[in-house]
Amino acid sequence: MNWTRRRLLAAGAGAAFLRARAADASVHGLRKIAEQRGLVYGCSVHSRNLEHQDFAEALVREAGCLVAETESKRHIIEAVRGSFNFGPTERLLTFAEKHRMHFRGHTLVWHERNPNWLQDALEAGPSDRILTDYIQAVVQHFRGRIGSWDVVNEAVLPEDQRSDGLRNSLWTKAFGPGYIDLAFHAARAADPGTQLVYNETHLEAASDRGNFKRQHTLRLLEGMKARGVPIDAIGIQSHLRPYEWGLDEKALAHFLREIVDLGLRVLVTELDVRDWGGPLDLAKRYQEAADITQRYLSVVMTTSRVDAIVTWGLSDRYTWLTRWKPTSSPDPAPLPLDRNMNRKPMWYAIANALSSDVSPAMWQRD
Ligand code: G3I
Repeated sequence: MNWTRRRLLAAGAGAAFLRARAADASVHGLRKIAEQRGLVYGCSVHSRNLEHQDFAEALVREAGCLVAETESKRHIIEAVRGSFNFGPTERLLTFAEKHRMHFRGHTLVWHERNPNWLQDALEAGPSDRILTDYIQAVVQHFRGRIGSWDVVNEAVLPEDQRSDGLRNSLWTKAFGPGYIDLAFHAARAADPGTQLVYNETHLEAASDRGNFKRQHTLRLLEGMKARGVPIDAIGIQSHLRPYEWGLDEKALAHFLREIVDLGLRVLVTELDVRDWGGPLDLAKRYQEAADITQRYLSVVMTTSRVDAIVTWGLSDRYTWLTRWKPTSSPDPAPLPLDRNMNRKPMWYAIANALSSDVSPAMWQRD
């Protein structure tokens, strides 16, 4: 008997759990639960992981949308200037299309993961075509097949102390803050039918950093809307860190209401729970990850117009956080499925946020 059943039987929730478990067996997965509410659930993926049958089956069962965790970034697509390698993204997109999944593009303009030649090219003579030609080539190549793009990623940074709160990235240095408008206009021209998203991190954080990110991201988006820049949505990455900065539901709800007032949709784009620093007891850590996921998503879902919930990975077996965890910490458990593709309390928290049919209440705390 696995830990969940034992604890639930002990907690007297056995009957409810068994009923739910039986019902759970008929649940098609987060994809179906989301679709019943007109929403999308998906996850990021690396194409090399599609080779693992149990993972591929879990993807098909659970995901209604895929996004390349790395393979659609410029250092892979244009490693050689002017030569475009769409193969890695195509591999993932073909899998998604075969299983009638949506696909998100991540990301066209970032300060990280640019090809080695780019910095020199910008310094040699910053023609903004270095930015717009790339966007046009990539977005046009996938026109009609990628329904949503992270056009610009993580442009706000407190440490650079600019009055506009922007990161002093290679893009800002080359073209000034106007590079962001340029990017969105180029993306819209390349495929008028795809959703254009500004993606940012730490917006959910209960911290000074989170306050700065929310304040300056809002100012950025307000300016873009005032200038008529074609932007459709904000991507809130949602890398939750319950043991470092927690969650400020009030500040998050206030921010989201401002986003709604701007007429922007919301996507949760990279949800996971960084759990080092949490209890060593796995069941407790699982439950606390589910609790903060439930709290977070209930704020997001009730205060904004959400299109999609995307987790940054599907199974703990393939989380990016494994490489970042402190050596003394146990393997991270940030995602809805465990390493053997079993559903964890976090799965139920997401399912519950997507519908009223499944409640994590049955995961009784001791
Ligand atoms: O595939 C190669 C492997 O062949 C090689 O042996 C290994 C050597 O280190 O590198 C592997 O590639 C790594 C790749 O992930 C796939 O695992 C890259 O080095 C590594 O840099 C890359 O990291 C990704 C990172 O973005 C940079 O692209 C992470 O997986 C990915 O989770 C992370 O995602 C970012 C979002 O794009 C933006 N928001 C933050 C988020 C987390 O940092």
